[in-house]
Amino acid sequence: MPYLRSLFVLLTLFSHAVFAQDATLGKEKYQDCVSCHSIKPGENLLGPSLFGVYGRKAGAVEGYRYSNALKKSGITWNEDSLNRYIADPQGLIPGGRMPYSGMPDAQGRKALIAYLMTLQ
Ligand code: HEC
Repeated sequence: MPYLRSLFVLLTLFSHAVFAQDATLGKEKYQDCVSCHSIKPGENLLGPSLFGVYGRKAGAVEGYRYSNALKKSGITWNEDSLNRYIADPQGLIPGGRMPYSGMPDAQGRKALIAYLMTLQ
């Protein structure tokens, strides 16, 4: 079934292209975070480094002093929790101390999370 195979290849290429596009928009959206968060491993600014944040437990960066609220949240950073935190940090972690009021744009959050996923 050569047709099916090339269709599959095309679809795969297409989904990679969409993902890459998302990550490019996501990098732009990251400008909201860049003043407080480095993407270099171990480089903590006002906020902890976001290198490898996707899939990590909240409050796990060595040497960074988190709020108790964040440390005790029991959250793992995945698409759902990141989406909620970026939309409304205080809503997801009341008493947390990320001084960011939230990104209302759902498309922007999705793209930003796609970008964060590449930081591994
Ligand atoms: C004005 C500074 C500031 C800005 C802007 C900011 N953050 Fe933060 N961020 C912090 C601080 C401080 C913490 C630690 C919060 C705590 O301990 O409760 C934090 C924590 C986090 C965490 C938890 C990390 C972990 O290791 O558990 C994530 C994820 C995060 N920020 C993502 C973002 C994203 C994405 C943006 C941009 C949309 C952003 N932040 C914008 C200061 C900031």
